[in-house]
Amino acid sequence: MNQPITVKDKQFILSISNSEIQNSIQKVADEINRDYEGKEIFFIGVLNGVFMYAADLLKKITVPCQISFTKVASYEGTHSTGKVKQLIGLPEDIAGRNVVILEDIVDTGFTMKEILRQLEGLHPADIKIATLLFKPNSFKESYKVDYRAMEIPNAFIVGYGLDYDGYGRNLPDIYTVVN
Ligand code: IMP
Ligand code: MG
Repeated sequence: MNQPITVKDKQFILSISNSEIQNSIQKVADEINRDYEGKEIFFIGVLNGVFMYAADLLKKITVPCQISFTKVASYEGTHSTGKVKQLIGLPEDIAGRNVVILEDIVDTGFTMKEILRQLEGLHPADIKIATLLFKPNSFKESYKVDYRAMEIPNAFIVGYGLDYDGYGRNLPDIYTVVN
């Protein structure tokens, strides 16, 4: 029986080991390597949560590729009801490129929708999404999430880059909150 761990002020239990994570990333890398045979990929990683996944996925990619990173800043809009999400450090040289967006997790899908909208404005040839984690029961959007290394239930998780209030990103495995 695994003992719970504490991250900041909450308890979490082990749910996905690093070796399971690596196996699922290898499967996605195999799919990407097959789909992009004879092409080049321009990866765009969404910081901060993506840093471990991006590092491990890229080591498994065998087609020619480049990578750049962006960050989503959220702030309350002045007129709209929801939060405005703005990409900062937007790559400028993606026109005509085959872009693959790397995200740690797609939950409701709202963040990724905004990222897609802003990157489409830079006229890439093509955009696909490769997320480490996907919460199918939470997703509310209609766009296609092309590559999903792992699908998980609607519980809050930390580790392997994902945080709880900034903590827990250093954990090599993924943990689920204990309610
Ligand atoms: P969305 O806009 O609802 O898809 O949320 C996406 C963002 O919420 C991700 O990029 C994460 O930063 C954060 N997030 C969603 N679920 C979790 C979780 O279980 N643990 C940590 N962060 C999460
Ligand atoms: Mg994220």
